Amino acid sequence: MTVSSPRLTVIGTGYLGATHAACMAELGFEVLGLDVDPAKIEKLAAGEVPFFEPGLEELLRKNVDAGRLRFTTSFQEVGEFGDVHFLCVGTPQKKGEYAADMRYVFEATESLLPYLKPNSLFVGKSTVPAGTASRIAEMLADKGPDGVELAWNPEFLREGWAVQDTLRPDRLVIGIEPGGRAEQVLREVYKPLLDAEVPMVVTDYATAELVKVSANAFLATKISFINAMAEVCEVTGADVKQLSKALSFDTRIGGRFLHAGLGFGGGCLPKDIRAFMARAGELGVDQALSFLKEVDAINMRRRSRMVDLARELTGGSFHGGVKVGVLGAAFKPNSDDIRDSPALDVAAAIHLQGAEVRVYDPAANDNASRAHPELTYCRSAQEAVADAHVVLHLTEWREFRDMDPSALNGVALKRIVDGRNALDAELWRNAGWVYRALGRPQQAVGGPSASQSDE
Ligand code: UDX
Repeated sequence: MTVSSPRLTVIGTGYLGATHAACMAELGFEVLGLDVDPAKIEKLAAGEVPFFEPGLEELLRKNVDAGRLRFTTSFQEVGEFGDVHFLCVGTPQKKGEYAADMRYVFEATESLLPYLKPNSLFVGKSTVPAGTASRIAEMLADKGPDGVELAWNPEFLREGWAVQDTLRPDRLVIGIEPGGRAEQVLREVYKPLLDAEVPMVVTDYATAELVKVSANAFLATKISFINAMAEVCEVTGADVKQLSKALSFDTRIGGRFLHAGLGFGGGCLPKDIRAFMARAGELGVDQALSFLKEVDAINMRRRSRMVDLARELTGGSFHGGVKVGVLGAAFKPNSDDIRDSPALDVAAAIHLQGAEVRVYDPAANDNASRAHPELTYCRSAQEAVADAHVVLHLTEWREFRDMDPSALNGVALKRIVDGRNALDAELWRNAGWVYRALGRPQQAVGGPSASQSDE
């Protein structure tokens, strides 16, 4: 790395920002991360990641120890330090509305503006409604120093794979205004990725913003498509797992994100499709995205179907001392994120209907117990299934997929619903369990499948 390497800052140190900061330091840059939460900054500065993300803590610690990665709560320090500023703050769903809450994006921009150095580059990575980048470009032109530029560089990382997805993404997308230096600067920052032949698409702001939301809309649609097929399978006696497998051999369709089950959750897919619909409404093209309403509805119906199937297996009611063992609370494996988690939603609904619900998740128990203190949390799968009248497999952690059903002791009834279609039905049945799954007949044929989350 030459002495003239740009110095980088990362504003917002959640899943996206903390990963981006550590990965940019790993590429050899000096990086300063900022968050408005001092507790988070204290942890990161001590080399601790405040959430579960495989491989991130090692990378963070290594780069903090090497002195390339530091953290602060001061916008002034960030402005004076950085040549390139990556905006990585969250854009959650507004309470009671579909639209994204953009306050953190605009607050962070306003806070940094007075301290930006001339000719610095501001790079938006947050997922935003189309039109946001142009607004920020205007703010920079009105109130920023001479020569400051904006680029929009959406992020596609998946939780659980964040480090890998940042250092070797499927593609880089850069939205710029023609005639500036932004592309050249970002080509320098991402040189190791470009040298590794990661494709880069250079485009305008609106296209860059839309690539992100349309990618998530497509993925959500693909999952809801196969879950809609699961609904049809349930009434025809067909097997959605076999259907999905057969479809996947068609290279035009492909098998990824075609796993039927409890559907999608998390901090991105659900809120991004809703924010996309809200923005389309504002732009007068709501009809173009009306299908996303159905995508959302199919997804939510899987959760109620899961509750119904569990109730059916406990004799039609959760009252009268029914105990339900729940395996999984995170919205997907390799994560402790419980935002819009289908697993927790189902567990909470069953508790509300009268059952005692005992939950075990390898990483998300703490987060889950803060959000749903009414549920009972266990330290192992064995503890969660003890005395259970039905066991629900709701997040496909490898630990659950590798579990030996004959080693589980003390259940009241050997009944399991595989909400992720990820367990080996034959293995469970041979161990004396009644095995049921979403979208599959009661005596389905076929062995275990890969995880939904590409594990
Ligand atoms: C997603 C996008 O994949 C990523 O590109 C974007 O940057 C952020 O949003 P993430 O939220 O980490 O990433 O989760 P992802 O791996 O996409 O899974 C989303 C949900 O879909 C999970 O709840 C998962 O269990 C579910 N899923 C996934 C299915 O139900 N079926 C599948 O076939 C695949």
